[in-house]
Amino acid sequence: MRRVHVAPSILSADFRFLNHEIEKVYEAGATYLHFDVMDGHFVPNISFGLPVLESLKGHYNMIYDVHIMISDPLTYGPKFVKAGADIVTFHYEALSNDKERNKVIRAIRKAGGKVGMSIKPKTRVEVVFPFLKMLDLVLVMSVEPGFGGQKFIPASLDKIEKLRKYIDRYKLDTLIEVDGGINNKTAKLCKEKGVDILVAGSYLFGSSKIKDRVEGLMHD
Ligand code: DX5
Ligand code: ZN
Repeated sequence: MRRVHVAPSILSADFRFLNHEIEKVYEAGATYLHFDVMDGHFVPNISFGLPVLESLKGHYNMIYDVHIMISDPLTYGPKFVKAGADIVTFHYEALSNDKERNKVIRAIRKAGGKVGMSIKPKTRVEVVFPFLKMLDLVLVMSVEPGFGGQKFIPASLDKIEKLRKYIDRYKLDTLIEVDGGINNKTAKLCKEKGVDILVAGSYLFGSSKIKDRVEGLMHD
């Protein structure tokens, strides 16, 4: 059985006690920390940006998995690497053509980061296939990006399955990540389809059973 990683999304954390919240998910066994960066333009919400990442840089032994839901990933993708991101995942839909998308991939890599590409629920999964060999990660959005606490979109499972088949067929090492509405039930469905990383926000933060829930996502 594939080892599955958990990436708690700090968007759902209590920012009054951010350090404590991160320590709780770290001690529970989470290996990734998911940062949802929103610009109020690509998505109808504004979250946080470079200063938050800079303040956390190097403080936690977790992979800083930065999901940029922004309209200008070419300018800001490399800046997030410099601010401490290990992986910067930008949106396919933020660019109008593949030439531009390739430029973003190169810019993030040149800055020293790993790079991921994310697709919204209404975007066909096949559009990312040509990029997979250049990507460290592909992020399937199982909710409309912009907010935590939404309901999982079941059609995402078909995308995970198609990605798993393609990645295995061409012996790529691109990781598959799913993001949005993940809980013990939806996580199980995603794992059966071959996902590698589960992003979870509201299912973890705010719960009194964070340790059980992180372990449950990884092992159940
Ligand atoms: C949505 C974000 C997700 C979200 C996950 O735009 O990309 O990471 O915070 O939150 P839950 O797990 O509550 O759906
Ligand atoms: Zn996210």
